[in-house]
Amino acid sequence: MKDDSGSDRSRWIRWLVIGVGLVVVVVIAVLLSRRAALAAPPQPLPFSHRRHDQSGIQCLYCHSDALRSDIAGIPSVQKCMGCHSSIATDRPAIVELTGYWERQEPILWQRVSPSADFVFFSHQPHLAAAVSCETCHGDVGSMDAARPATIMDMGWCLDCHLQQPAEKVGRLADCMACHK
Ligand code: HEC
Ligand code: HEC
Ligand code: HEC
Ligand code: HEC
Ligand code: HEC
Repeated sequence: MKDDSGSDRSRWIRWLVIGVGLVVVVVIAVLLSRRAALAAPPQPLPFSHRRHDQSGIQCLYCHSDALRSDIAGIPSVQKCMGCHSSIATDRPAIVELTGYWERQEPILWQRVSPSADFVFFSHQPHLAAAVSCETCHGDVGSMDAARPATIMDMGWCLDCHLQQPAEKVGRLADCMACHK
C-alpha cells in the first residue's frame, strides 16, 4: 500500500516535470521565432536609412511608386548614382555601389517584410487616407539596417480596418478587399 502511493507520487512528479519542460520549450521556440521574424535580414550593401534621413531625403523621393500604385518600389542603382556619382565617392560602400552600376547589375535587396502572395495590399489607398509610413513600418528613418516593426498578419490589418468610420468598415472588413 505504502509503496504504491510513493511510486504514484513519483510518477506524478515525473509527468509534472515533463509537462513544465514542454511548456518552457514551446515558449522559448515562440520567442525565438518572433525575434527571427523581427530581425533585419542581411543585405548586399550596408544601406542606412538613418544616414539618408539625416541628410533630409524624403521617403517618397526613393519610394516614389507608393503614391500612385500598389507597391512603394525600391530605388534602382541608377537612382542611387544620381547622387553617388558625386557624393561620398571615395567610401568603400560607394565604390562597391559604383561597381554594380558599371556592371549594370541590379542589387538583390532582401525583403524586410515578406508578404503572402494570396493577399492584396496596395499603398495608394492608405496614403490617400493619410496613413503615414511610420504607422505601419515604424521609425525606419532612425534605423541603420531596416527591420520589420511588426508582424503584418491578418489580425494586424483588421485591427486598424475595424477602427475606421462605421460606414467604411463593411467594405474594409470584407474578405474580398484583401483576398481578391
Ligand atoms: C535614399 C533612398 C531611400 C530613402 C530616402 C528611403 N528609403 Fe526605404 N529603402 C531604400 C532601399 C535601397 C531599400 C532596400 C534595402 C533595405 O531594406 O534597407 C529600402 C527598404 C525599405 C523598407 C523595407 C521594405 C521591405 O519590406 O523589404 C521600408 C519599409 C522602407 N524602405 C521605408 C522607408 C521609409 C519609411 C522612409 C522614410 C523615412 C524611407 N524608406 C526612405 C531606399 C530608401
Ligand atoms: C497601411 C500600412 C502601410 C503604410 C501606411 C505604408 N506601408 Fe509600405 N508596406 C505595407 C505592407 C503591408 C507591405 C508589404 C505588402 C506587399 O509586399 O505587398 C509594404 C511594403 C513596402 C515596401 C516593400 C515592397 C514595395 O511595395 O515596394 C516598401 C519599400 C514600403 N512598403 C515603403 C513604404 C513607404 C515609404 C511608405 C510611406 C510613403 C509606406 N510604405 C506606407 C504597409 C504599409
Ligand atoms: C538624394 C541623394 C541620395 C540618393 C538618391 C542616395 N544617397 Fe546614399 N547618401 C547620400 C548622402 C547625402 C549620404 C551621406 C554622405 C556623408 O556621410 O557625407 C549618403 C550616404 C550613403 C552611404 C554611406 C557611405 C559611407 O560609408 O559613409 C551609403 C552606403 C549609401 N549612401 C548608399 C546609397 C544607396 C545604395 C542608394 C540607392 C539605393 C543611395 N545611397 C541613394 C545621398 C543619397
Ligand atoms: C493603420 C491602419 C491600417 C492598417 C494597418 C491597414 N490598413 Fe488597409 N486601409 C486603411 C485605411 C484608412 C484605408 C482607406 C479607407 C477609405 O477608403 O477611406 C484602407 C484601405 C485598404 C484597402 C482598399 C479597400 C477598398 O475597397 O477601397 C485595402 C485592399 C487594404 N486597405 C488592405 C490592407 C491590408 C491587406 C492590410 C494589412 C497588410 C492593411 N490594409 C492594413 C487603414 C489601414
Ligand atoms: C484587411 C485585410 C484582410 C481582410 C479584410 C481579410 N484578410 Fe484574411 N488575410 C489577410 C492577410 C494579410 C493574411 C496573411 C497573413 C496571415 O497569415 O495572417 C491573411 C490570411 C488569411 C488566411 C490564411 C491564414 C493562414 O494562416 O495562412 C485565410 C484562410 C484568410 N485570411 C481568410 C479570410 C476570410 C475568410 C476573411 C473574411 C472574413 C478575411 N480573410 C479577411 C488580410 C485580410
